[in-house]
Amino acid sequence: MMEVNEEQRQVKSGGRSRYHRSYVIFTILLVLSLCFYINIYNNSETWTATVGLFFPETFHNKTTNVSLTTVSREIVSLNTVSRGIVSLTTVSRGVPAKPWKPPEPYYVAYPYNYSFVINEPEKCQKENTFVVLIIPVSPGNMAARDAIRSTWATERSVADKIVSVLFLIGLPTSQDSEKIQEDLLQESEKHHDLLQSDFWDSYYNLTIKTVVMLEWISAYCHKASYAMKVDSDVFLNVKNLVNMLLLAPKQNYMTGLVARTAMVLRNPHSKWYLPKTVYSPAHYPPYALGLGYVFSLDLAGKIFEAAQLVKPVYIEDVYIGLCMNHLRIALTDPPDGSLFNVFPVDYNRCRYSKLIATTTRSLKDQVYFWKDLQTPGPYC
Ligand SMILES: *[C@@H]1O[C@H](CO)[C@@H](O)[C@H](O)[C@H]1NC(C)=O
Ligand SMILES: *[C@@H]1O[C@H](CO)[C@@H](O)[C@H](O)[C@H]1NC(C)=O
Ligand SMILES: *[C@@H]1O[C@H](CO)[C@@H](O)[C@H](O)[C@H]1NC(C)=O
Ligand SMILES: *[C@@H]1O[C@H](CO)[C@@H](O)[C@H](O)[C@H]1NC(C)=O
Repeated sequence: MMEVNEEQRQVKSGGRSRYHRSYVIFTILLVLSLCFYINIYNNSETWTATVGLFFPETFHNKTTNVSLTTVSREIVSLNTVSRGIVSLTTVSRGVPAKPWKPPEPYYVAYPYNYSFVINEPEKCQKENTFVVLIIPVSPGNMAARDAIRSTWATERSVADKIVSVLFLIGLPTSQDSEKIQEDLLQESEKHHDLLQSDFWDSYYNLTIKTVVMLEWISAYCHKASYAMKVDSDVFLNVKNLVNMLLLAPKQNYMTGLVARTAMVLRNPHSKWYLPKTVYSPAHYPPYALGLGYVFSLDLAGKIFEAAQLVKPVYIEDVYIGLCMNHLRIALTDPPDGSLFNVFPVDYNRCRYSKLIATTTRSLKDQVYFWKDLQTPGPYC
């Protein structure tokens, strides 16, 4: 409101009106490009889930299928995430979202006692792993796996510390699941970097996926020092990750982009509705956003054990926070607030040479940014 008055006052001062016309056009273009910007987030399995907790009523419709599809075109008003990283406003396209019906009873199937269909039990021992990177991805998304294999997953050692990379999938549920399964077996034969567990791979089963990940890490990778869960649409600067870990605590350590006061959504129409019967406090305990969180190896076993006692919710990163809260272990903020980014950081060699993780808008970007960063020349 204030801005409009200001503008009217200035428009009256005649000579500036042309300036103001272009200012208005510029603003409209900006808003339109932001609408586009919001709409192209369709890649991450957890991104919108997480964002929805900060910005209730923003995202409405998600199919129960694996990957996220539609992001709502409602008014989006994104203010501060965590430490004021983002400030973004865009306007409605006026497509009403139907009220979403959450799965009964709002929490997931018992998240353990699954077995591995495809496993790499020797991987960590053979590689003498320092940090194991686990990337949950949907079974059919070989494109994302190949993009990662050809980029940051090629960085296997930093300062003599070995980095191991594994993709974690469940059972394909689509109509062509038999074909996908055959392809997965071949892919595993070729790359030896797949873990597949026997639960149905779907969005509402991401918490199961995460608990299976913890179980795998503590069973097969207990000699490593650290583990990280990374979303498949994330650009990871492996060197910076390892350098941070070289100075990190060796126990009870978890870091990432830590949300400290995310609220529980009580509107039954909202996508991330949880009734009080499932979780009664108004806020979630601190948790590290699902785009990429790092933890010391001891926590894999501890959280896995806690998970036998903490009632599962379908929002996987929140669930890890609930388990950490149960264990009374505090999350650690990263040494620098710009290291982990939930909104895609525009490419810039200098910026990318300093961050650890950022979501990206496309696999193409992910590949391009990584390749550019490998070329010689100064970063900043
Ligand atoms: C969600 O989106 C999908 C595809 O975009 C659509 O088919 C489905 O009807 C939508 N569901 C709801 C509840 O709006
Ligand atoms: C899970 O498996 C273990 C051992 O196989 C068994 O003791 C336990 O009861 C099982 N738990 C559930 C909930 O099925
Ligand atoms: C997932 O989507 C595919 C096509 O996109 C569809 O054939 C399949 O039935 C869906 N699975 C579930 C569990 O909704
Ligand atoms: C999650 O996986 C379990 C085990 O495969 C399955 O019974 C359940 O239907 C799945 N839930 C969803 C929402 O896909």
